[in-house]
Amino acid sequence: MDRSITLTYTDLRGVIAPGELEERCRQAAPILSRAVAGDPQYAGFTGWRTVDESAGPDRVAFLQQQARRVRQDADAFVTIGIGGSNQSSRAAIKALRPQDGPAMLWSGNTISAREMADTLARLDSYKSVYINCIAKNFETLEPGIAFRVLRQYLERRYGEQEAAKRIFATGTPGSTLHQLCKDHGYTFLTFPERVGGRFSVLSDVGLFPMAVAGIDIAAVTDGMRMMRDRIFAQPAEENIALRYAAIRKLLLEKGYAMEMLAFFEPRLDFFAKWWVQTFAESEGKDDTALYPIVSSNSEDLHAVGQYVQQGRPILFETFLTVAERDASVRIPPEAKKDYFDYLTGKDFWDINNAARKGTFAAHSQRGIPCLEFTIPAIDAHTLGQLYYYFIFSCYLSCELLGVNPFDQPGVEAYKHQMFRLLGKY
Ligand code: PA5
Repeated sequence: MDRSITLTYTDLRGVIAPGELEERCRQAAPILSRAVAGDPQYAGFTGWRTVDESAGPDRVAFLQQQARRVRQDADAFVTIGIGGSNQSSRAAIKALRPQDGPAMLWSGNTISAREMADTLARLDSYKSVYINCIAKNFETLEPGIAFRVLRQYLERRYGEQEAAKRIFATGTPGSTLHQLCKDHGYTFLTFPERVGGRFSVLSDVGLFPMAVAGIDIAAVTDGMRMMRDRIFAQPAEENIALRYAAIRKLLLEKGYAMEMLAFFEPRLDFFAKWWVQTFAESEGKDDTALYPIVSSNSEDLHAVGQYVQQGRPILFETFLTVAERDASVRIPPEAKKDYFDYLTGKDFWDINNAARKGTFAAHSQRGIPCLEFTIPAIDAHTLGQLYYYFIFSCYLSCELLGVNPFDQPGVEAYKHQMFRLLGKY
């Protein structure tokens, strides 16, 4: 099976003129070369670039071994973290739905009292609970307080010594989280110094919870390496990552304000959330950038679909299409008159594909520029490719915009107001 991802662009109104994209890619060739070679300007943030520095085979084997210990004993595993620290593993686990591991729960991604109360109540129904707190510098409020509550919960249930065996923390070496682990015997995993939150899928941060859930993380990292090699080898005009970044930039310049990621497999919902975070938090600076939004179809066709077809033409659409059939459910014959006989014998898979093709046709005929990524399947290898692909494209896209891909100064504004209200200063 051909495992590669393809990208096509359909633009019935000629919003991007013939040759314009190629020209833009040629102009951006130095940006691509710098990113591929490792730009010294971002040396402190691109530890993920080679894949092997933060997620090489030895590290993968180590994480698999740690995960085996958890899987042998745990029937529930809570990942504590927010933003880049929890999105990537949750996206993969929700997309791949591994069946034979512990129940996977998430905490520290909200301050909702109800959520925390429900998590604690839910954990009571499991015999053996493990937790993994992920925080780069352990200064973020959400994971900080969730970790406190959940580790005390484990201590109450199992006693301090046994609880310590059930606690993993992923942080920067030398951080207060590291010290906490040393002082109390928790297992410490590494949040690589040169990798920021939303780029951390290529590290212990993303890979350890995936491994605990039962995902083949060697396949994930193989997919990442395959995409890395492809991006590193392709010349600018044909480069799949640069073409995407350049199309986005051209459409932004031509007045499009939003990019909508559209897909017809709801198990990609959390992957889409990761995609939104990657682009919004990296690009949304200096009063520029596309606003990333999502349409999980066919459900959202019955909601935002109306706006897309007839509302203000401010968005373009990026379809994520799955090529390989992965399930089959046929519509049975029916004696009772429900007027759906034209579908008898047809498969949900094919009906869903007709909805996707119909949506693509209707939206592109309206004049909406449509990109389409065709992925071979929703599996570990393909997700690995997608993670690397979008991270790298996002980096290039930020370079085209002229914004720093790796910081997020705007996030501090709400924190400042919240801390004032909480009496921190
Ligand atoms: O991408 C990012 O850097 C952010 O989304 C962070 O991951 C998020 O704010 C959580 O930070 P931390 O891991 O330090 O708690």
